Amino acid sequence: MPIQEEVWSGDVVVPPQLLLAVVHNGGFVALGYAAGDERAAGFVFGFVGIYDYHFRHHSHMLAVREAYRGSGLAKALKEAQRDHCLDQGIEVIAWTMDPLEARNAVFNFAKLGAFTREYHRDFYGPMPDKLNAGLPSDRIYVEWPIGHDRTYKRLRGEDRPPSLEEAEREGIAYTLRADGERPGNVAPATDETHLLLEIPAHFQELKARDPKTALAWRFAVREAIEPAFARGYAAVEFLRAANGRGAYLLVPQPRREGVIDTDE
Ligand SMILES: CC(C)(COP(=O)(O)OP(=O)(O)OC[C@H]1O[C@@H](n2cnc3c(N)ncnc32)[C@H](O)[C@@H]1OP(=O)(O)O)[C@@H](O)C(=O)NCCC(=O)NCCS
Repeated sequence: MPIQEEVWSGDVVVPPQLLLAVVHNGGFVALGYAAGDERAAGFVFGFVGIYDYHFRHHSHMLAVREAYRGSGLAKALKEAQRDHCLDQGIEVIAWTMDPLEARNAVFNFAKLGAFTREYHRDFYGPMPDKLNAGLPSDRIYVEWPIGHDRTYKRLRGEDRPPSLEEAEREGIAYTLRADGERPGNVAPATDETHLLLEIPAHFQELKARDPKTALAWRFAVREAIEPAFARGYAAVEFLRAANGRGAYLLVPQPRREGVIDTDE
């Protein structure tokens, strides 16, 4: 598929035969088109998975060609994927995301209403494609509860997160904050009710210009987020400031059920 080549480059392309086989087995692929352009403007691809003893849909890829970003197509593709899953009785769609991509964070957290409570170091190993080359492929595991009220409201645009300035005015502390272009020192999570974790506004551009600082951000986010998640925090919002800065909002979550006890 040319759109995969264009967005990621040839190295991570999923072949069409595999896409068809997955669709034939409950998975989902949708292509989005713009009037007057015969090439696909966007696409989404995911498959059925099992996680924590429950069926869920794993969304492996979402892409909109650069010319069509900001057009609403990305949301339309996720809505189509959601409709497909709700019809199947599936309630959660999940995917992995590079936590340093601010645009994706806005899209996933602020616009869709997703959240994360899992961080994976170097999830895919070294990746050669143009978005990922040169850095360990750390990922957050994003969960999207597609039947929840918050999701409905976010999709309808009825409910938006507060601004980063508002969160700062409330006195919410940072576990990680930028110091100029570089990450500042990590203040490990303790018992705060809310925490902010800042990321760069334009990570790809920073990585191209200053790979060392990009790597420093990778390690700083790791250092801040891993202990926070281990203490039971989840990142539930991504907040933006008028000047382009952006930060995840972390809040403590009720503990998840432990492993099912199979003893008689
Ligand atoms: C991820 C992707 C599908 C989203 O599509 P999109 O058309 O860019 O998404 P939208 O414009 O609807 O939403 C992005 C939001 O981030 C905002 N945004 C854009 N750049 C940003 C930045 N650098 N920092 C913060 N926010 C940013 C946009 O303004 C928009 O918010 P708004 O609607 O409130 O204005 C698309 O950007 C893409 O194909 N990226 C490359 C592939 C990829 O990363 N796939 C996703 C893997 S999880």
